[in-house]
Amino acid sequence: MKKKKNRDRSDEKMKYEKEEIEETENKVEYGWYLKNVMFILILIGTSGIGMIILSISFGGLLRLILLPSGIAIVLMFLWPALGLLTMNLITGKNISHPTISFPEILNLESPKILDIGCGTGRVAIGMAKNLKNGGHIYGIDIFDRSISNNALETVKRNAKLENVEKKTTFQYGSATDIPFEDNFFDVVNISYVLHEIRDKPQVLSEIIRILKLGGTLYLTELQRASISTLLLMGPMCMTCKSKKFWYELFDDNGFKQIKHVEKGPIVIFTAIP
Ligand SMILES: C[S@@+](CC[C@H](N)C(=O)[O-])C[C@H]1O[C@@H](n2cnc3c(N)ncnc32)[C@H](O)[C@@H]1O
Repeated sequence: MKKKKNRDRSDEKMKYEKEEIEETENKVEYGWYLKNVMFILILIGTSGIGMIILSISFGGLLRLILLPSGIAIVLMFLWPALGLLTMNLITGKNISHPTISFPEILNLESPKILDIGCGTGRVAIGMAKNLKNGGHIYGIDIFDRSISNNALETVKRNAKLENVEKKTTFQYGSATDIPFEDNFFDVVNISYVLHEIRDKPQVLSEIIRILKLGGTLYLTELQRASISTLLLMGPMCMTCKSKKFWYELFDDNGFKQIKHVEKGPIVIFTAIP
């Protein structure tokens, strides 16, 4: 009797686990940006709050040391952590990126588009869903840990669940050694990736190689000198590159007709080789 009860219970548990796996397999998952970094920042940042509270209880030299240190830690760590959290709560589960609704990309006739550093597919899948006149979106990535669940299987599963499997191809590939032939793409998109890569000229030379004559590069980054970036990241916004930096980089590496648009903390550049 007792054995039967135990068997029933473990059958029930297995059924529940199976259902849970099936449920996650059927859900689109774009992941959170820098989830681990965010938790570390929150941990360090809250120690700053502790220091501020302690400084109120102590007087003299200890307060003189603890109070400014606590404030500095909160500004340097907790502020960007809360910014990241806000950004993730806004974009976390959704496809949301300005370039996925740019008519100059979506209205092209059967374009071949490459998304470098596609991650879980937020931009590539978003574009594929919105294309007006056919076309195909390719995505490459080294699939590091900058987004939770960042993996080739995740982006492929997302494309399938979003019904754009036939319009997309995802594969491993590095921005510094792009696994496509010369003059292949009409558009190359690279969002929140280039700032991470040391050898930027090599990436740009690869992009020039794979773009067709007249093809366009779209680069998205967070901008430094903007109130919204300051609100989002606090003093850490100074780690973002300035617009001048990107203009000079493009100019020095064979791009012309460089333009940009600003959308809050985001800046999107277009450039033609
Ligand atoms: C912050 S995520 C941005 C993902 C995506 N572009 C988006 O906007 O949601 C940065 C992505 O760049 C990828 N990445 C970093 N270095 C790369 C490289 N050298 N080549 C290709 N992808 C790279 C990471 O694996 C990660 O998926």
